[in-house]
Amino acid sequence: MTTQDGNRVLDPQVASANPQTPNEFCHQAAMDTDASAAYAKSAQIFSHNRRFIPGGVVSVNRAVQPEIVFVKGQGAHIWDADGNQYIDYHAAFAPHFLGHNDPYVTDAVISVLREGASLYGSGTTELEGQLAELICRNIPAVESVQFLNTGSEATYEAIRLARAVTRRDHLVVMQGGYNGWHDDVSCNLMTPLDVIGPRVTPGEYPYIPMSAGIPREHQKLVHPINFNDLESVEYVCQKYSIAALITEPILQNLGIIKPLVGYLEGLRRLADRYGFILIFDEVKTGFRHGIAGYAGIAGVIPDLAVYGKALANGYPIAALGGKKELMDWFVHPEPSKRVLLAGTYNSHPVPTAAAIATIERLLMNDGEVYRHVEFLGQKMQEGLEQILRNLGSEAVIARQGSAFCIYFMDHCPKDWHDLADHHDFGFDEQLRRKLIELGVYFFPVAAKQCSISFAHTTGDIEATLEQIKNRLCEMLR
Ligand SMILES: Cc1ncc(COP(=O)(O)O)c(C=O)c1O
Repeated sequence: MTTQDGNRVLDPQVASANPQTPNEFCHQAAMDTDASAAYAKSAQIFSHNRRFIPGGVVSVNRAVQPEIVFVKGQGAHIWDADGNQYIDYHAAFAPHFLGHNDPYVTDAVISVLREGASLYGSGTTELEGQLAELICRNIPAVESVQFLNTGSEATYEAIRLARAVTRRDHLVVMQGGYNGWHDDVSCNLMTPLDVIGPRVTPGEYPYIPMSAGIPREHQKLVHPINFNDLESVEYVCQKYSIAALITEPILQNLGIIKPLVGYLEGLRRLADRYGFILIFDEVKTGFRHGIAGYAGIAGVIPDLAVYGKALANGYPIAALGGKKELMDWFVHPEPSKRVLLAGTYNSHPVPTAAAIATIERLLMNDGEVYRHVEFLGQKMQEGLEQILRNLGSEAVIARQGSAFCIYFMDHCPKDWHDLADHHDFGFDEQLRRKLIELGVYFFPVAAKQCSISFAHTTGDIEATLEQIKNRLCEMLR
């Protein structure tokens, strides 16, 4: 299929085997050494903002090198204050699944504002009902849904709801998972192995807070275990009264760490056996990997699921949905059982309209968005694998649809310990920074997911592969 830019092709292409030796291959790579960007204006803005904002950034994970101030995003591209242009694979930590400022979504937002829609803070709106219906009709795991502003708020409420329903307090989280910034879950992401020690199975890891200020008593209620390890789920269930287990169905805050065959089904079985609430955190996987999220692909129905990011293509809204009998606890007739969910900005008309438009766009033309990103994802994967093969590198590509990660190790990791033990973090980060100099924005932190959007073109992927080839040749020589 070809769109306005005349540059999208949906036919899969398979990269042909390349008989060149690594040296011949590198020799041919056009080395582009004078593409380093100047960041003078960015530096000026950072310096101004540091005077008024601690650290100069409003979310700590945005503090990365090089320090760049972005001023514009359109489609697959972003521009910085110094006029440098980048092909964007960060996508602001993944929400921009249709691309920056997608015209269909932008039109919907402008329309609601033109119509005079506002935030009323009283009763409901037709827009909320429309969005709720779209979600419930398209996601089998969601019979009933509530809206919040961020993924963190939604995971917070999911856990609170699970505790209320089960009358239990303990929570299981994944070592290497990320479910937001609040006390229950801001722990054990890329925890240094000398802090948590070697892999334990079956067993649990100590709660290692990612923030000061989390009460110790609270930390005792949270049990981090390995991803892809059902024995450890049984271990904690036998030891504690577990209210809920929350997991990303794919660990997408460590790149792309997929569930092993049978793992998600196993979680479902254990949830039924031990009576805990199974929460899928689909904040990153939801809508990006299909309209019904990764649960839809895996065919596993969690009790509760949480969505954000790609739900509204960059506008701030999150959804918490699941079984009606659980969701009804938000309006439980007995006040002592009722779960509080509140928020001045919940379902603000702008992100609500953006979410409706995003889902409509995802459903259009029999899923062309998903076909296009799968085609580009495949092209990226095959291109990268070819480059790595030609260079004699053992590195591997992990990918789910539009999301991918290069692991500089000889296999795709199955959990955090596997990744921490084998991945070349320094090399990964070095490559990312070099690519930024060349106008390809991979977030400059090792093992972070790269995200392709519907707005990316075959040309973007080819240009990216060329730059990666050049840089890898340089770095591996
Ligand atoms: C899987 C997952 N869950 C929850 C969150 C928290 O979402 P938010 O940053 O919108 O609070 C994130 C954010 O990156 C995430 O990746």
